[in-house]
Amino acid sequence: MKAMQYSRYGGVEVLEWVETPRPEPKAGQLLVRVHTFSVNPIDWKMMSGKLRLVLRAPNPCTPCFDLCGVVEEVGPEVKGFAVGDRILTREPGLHGGAAAEFAVVRADAAALAPDGVSDVSCAAAPLVAQTALQGLRLCKALEVGKQVLVVGASGGVGHLAVQIAKLHGAQVTGVCSTRNVEFVRSLGADEVIDYSQTDDYGQGRFDAVLDCAGKAPWKILRRALKPGGVVGEVSPSVRHFWPMLTLPLYSRKRLKPVMLDANGEDMQTIASWMGEGKLTVEVEQVYEGLQELPKAFERNESGRTRGKLVIQVA
Ligand SMILES: NC(=O)c1ccc[n+]([C@@H]2O[C@H](COP(=O)([O-])OP(=O)(O)OC[C@H]3O[C@@H](n4cnc5c(N)ncnc54)[C@H](OP(=O)(O)O)[C@@H]3O)[C@@H](O)[C@H]2O)c1
Repeated sequence: MKAMQYSRYGGVEVLEWVETPRPEPKAGQLLVRVHTFSVNPIDWKMMSGKLRLVLRAPNPCTPCFDLCGVVEEVGPEVKGFAVGDRILTREPGLHGGAAAEFAVVRADAAALAPDGVSDVSCAAAPLVAQTALQGLRLCKALEVGKQVLVVGASGGVGHLAVQIAKLHGAQVTGVCSTRNVEFVRSLGADEVIDYSQTDDYGQGRFDAVLDCAGKAPWKILRRALKPGGVVGEVSPSVRHFWPMLTLPLYSRKRLKPVMLDANGEDMQTIASWMGEGKLTVEVEQVYEGLQELPKAFERNESGRTRGKLVIQVA
């Protein structure tokens, strides 16, 4: 089968178009013919090698974790899936493997793709939708009337966080750049803050902040929280460690890292919302063919993607 792979760390120049054996499903796995897969920042961050101390890529690595496709073969001990089922998943672990004509995926993290929802939308959703859902849960934002701030509201995680918080009856304020203000409003945000106009998100206004951009100074996010409020940091870095450790010593506010747990239950919930038309994934661009992966990585690395980028394989 054809795949995109890398065998050394670097930029898009390390990606190679290769012929490689079709993987075989082991216990608990499905072999899937990949129709579409999507790109996330973790994919090119792992490829760069900057995360290798915590997230070491296999060698060679077939990147990308999110895919939609049809089950070709069912491994031993799998329940709930059959040959011919259309599925979507964010493959757990570090092996990815979605940038290929076929991939093996863990059945317990996959869900049946909802009828009437395209392969493109199904591949775009898994990682970002689960992160948004779990991040909002972590900061206790999924309740009627909660005041929720989503920073980076036009990106992959953020645009779904706005919709999921609204779905649960929260009052949502989104933060984005000027060109995305109308887009974020169209997702259902009650208020939109243009970060190029102000870095003031208010004082003591929010029960929960989901920071999907990782760029705002911590002091601004802390100031925006009500006492007892929580910031869920989707893009944690070393500068967040100190407040995470020390905040409980002097404040009722909290800063917590969001760590994705790819699992079948959340995947199924998201698939159901998509099937019912409650959750829509914005796709900025669909790239035709595996060889277009470098272009998708380069676009995603800009940090300015609106929604998601998807690659059509078959
Ligand atoms: N912890 C986890 O498990 C987990 C899971 C998923 C993602 N992540 C991380 O979370 C981050 C976001 O992922 P993503 O897929 O949503 O990325 P993305 O699609 O690239 O979105 C980033 C968004 O950030 C916005 N942005 C850029 N500068 C900003 C600023 N100064 N203030 C507010 N917004 C700003 C951009 O919007 P504009 O174009 O409007 O500026 C863009 O839409 C990445 O670092 C990713 O690695 C972590």
